[in-house]
Amino acid sequence: MINLHDIRYLRIGTPDLDQTIKYMTEIIGLQLARREGKTAYFRSDKVEVRGDTRDHTLAYFEGDPADQSIAFELRNPGELEAVAVELEKAGRPVRLGTKEECEQRHVRGMIASTDPSGNKIEFVARPFHTGQRFFPSRDAGITEFSHIGLFSTDCVRDEKFWTTICNARVSDWYGDIPFLRINTAHHSVVLFPSPKGRIGINHVNHQVEDVDDVMRSYYFLKHKGVKILQGPGRHPISGATMVYFEGPDGLTYEYSVGVKHILPEQEASYRPRQFGMTQINGCMHGSSGLDNVLEPGL
Ligand SMILES: [Fe+2]
Repeated sequence: MINLHDIRYLRIGTPDLDQTIKYMTEIIGLQLARREGKTAYFRSDKVEVRGDTRDHTLAYFEGDPADQSIAFELRNPGELEAVAVELEKAGRPVRLGTKEECEQRHVRGMIASTDPSGNKIEFVARPFHTGQRFFPSRDAGITEFSHIGLFSTDCVRDEKFWTTICNARVSDWYGDIPFLRINTAHHSVVLFPSPKGRIGINHVNHQVEDVDDVMRSYYFLKHKGVKILQGPGRHPISGATMVYFEGPDGLTYEYSVGVKHILPEQEASYRPRQFGMTQINGCMHGSSGLDNVLEPGL
């Protein structure tokens, strides 16, 4: 079993790094931590909310937008070799990160692999934290990078990978879409069916401080001409109030607040719930865009 502790960072290619930096800082409201060569690193974590600040939670590099990796921090950094064994047993590719790759990612150790759909996953040991306070360039109220939606060519098969090879637990199902948690948050990864064979990131979520931040950003984004994909509204499954919008290179971003937590003392008695795929189960306020959530931008 691969014991994941937290979702850590995303690495995403972009053909226009300058434009993407501008968008991340001026529209999304992240902090540009630094630019090293052809890679820009962004921070998102408020220490008062998380109790720590990750060195970075998003890295954009000059490259193909379809080149996307998702990194998870291991609960026990000493298990890196055991992770390689588990992945090999499961028939997944295993590649130990080079010294240079670890330096680029600001981690002490790393294994690169893929999930059964082919999504690039990095398992990292001892990723760097920083004592520097998060200082965003726009007051979007972001408190942390929290979860991703991930396209899956077979949600049932991939759910098994995340819950039997890794330690993820199903919090709820929306149709065949599993909401997977690896810590107390209701979901860190949500698997979305990809009928057209598309893989990669479905959406990127940042938590914000309160509902007013969701509403403020909704009007801010509209004013800036950013395409709103769903919301504002509220997911009854997780309890989160949200808005989805289009980010650089057509990637969907989300702000949300109020996601349910399943505390350690609730783990033993918690049972995942099955929800039908109806619009009201997607948004209790009735916001449309279910299709957008399943296939952003289409
Ligand atoms: Fe989400």
